[in-house]
Amino acid sequence: MQIEENKSLKEFNTFGIDCKARYFVEVTTTSDLRKVLSMRPNEPLFILGGGSNMLLTQDINDLVLYLNLKGISKVSEDKDHVTLKVMAGENWHEFVMYCIDHDYGGVENLSLIPGNVGTAPIQNIGAYGVELKDVFESCNAVEIATQVEKEFSKTACQFGYRNSIFKNEAKGKYIITSVTLRLTKQGNHSFSTSYGAIQEKLAAAQIETPTIKDISDAVIAIRRSKLPDPKELGNSGSFFKNPIIDAEAFKGFRITYPEAPFYEVSPTEFKIPAGWLIEQAGFKGQRMGDAGVHKNQALVLVNHGGASGNEIWQLALQIQKSVKEKFGIYIEPEVNIF
Ligand code: EPU
Repeated sequence: MQIEENKSLKEFNTFGIDCKARYFVEVTTTSDLRKVLSMRPNEPLFILGGGSNMLLTQDINDLVLYLNLKGISKVSEDKDHVTLKVMAGENWHEFVMYCIDHDYGGVENLSLIPGNVGTAPIQNIGAYGVELKDVFESCNAVEIATQVEKEFSKTACQFGYRNSIFKNEAKGKYIITSVTLRLTKQGNHSFSTSYGAIQEKLAAAQIETPTIKDISDAVIAIRRSKLPDPKELGNSGSFFKNPIIDAEAFKGFRITYPEAPFYEVSPTEFKIPAGWLIEQAGFKGQRMGDAGVHKNQALVLVNHGGASGNEIWQLALQIQKSVKEKFGIYIEPEVNIF
């Protein structure tokens, strides 16, 4: 392990923001991770995984710990299921492709989500009717203060919409080192194809009995058509969460905007797509210098090249303010702002 100084983080965050780490260390094993933590028990740390859900608005003075633990191992298998332990530093999409190649089902709807396996539980990644929690068994995490490795069951993780214990009580206290997932084997897959865009893609390709690869291909095509590839245009996926409003607010909203899309979360809670609100507020495809709103999906903020994190943040604040003024609805960032 080597501590590097004044290292650019441009290649380590999908927004492509050129901030610097005062100190940077890469760990590739759990024992190295424990060693680093024990050497600096009380000093603040900046944990870096896939860098896909963060906006850097300044240089980082805390030690940046780049978590690069790799490996996929089989924990158990029977005729219908396989349980895999995946190390935190594995790239999420490459892991999904590994599952497709081995015909392991359950994560195909989560194809092409940027980021690493270790950060997937933190915000319970989700897309096209599936969330990580649907296949999640447990994860291991090292407690920063004690360096003890602990197992978190699915219940212990308290998963919710883009939420888990790691965004609440456990925030900043643990480093997830591996995730254990239970997947289906051939003949036992249960497909989630109810999402309209997936149905359209399968129908267009005249596929009646899809394989998990067909679903993955459909999801990849949908995402590519709407969401920019971070390698070509810096971004962090959905920048805001879809707001959830109560029944009374929804009633008023629906009268004024009968055409607005919505999902009923419960009889008293309604989720409104933030992308729709932002588009209606006139921001889709707009830019302020190199900070912009994606032309095909208003929920995604993009870096056209030379934007600073602060420029993107100023644009986000302006969007938040306009949406609040127009609709009376507060939209909260999904990405972590540093
Ligand atoms: N919409 C607009 N204008 C836009 C964008 C969306 O009017 O610019 C409307 C769409 O027409 C549609 C509705 O909003 O009626 C919902 O749009 P979409 O199906 O694209 O999904 P989303 O709510 O914008 C969520 C997730 C995505 C995930 C998709 C598909 C959140 C914050 N985002 O987006 O997740 O891929 O559903 O399941 O929940 C991510 O987290 O990075 C991400 C991309």
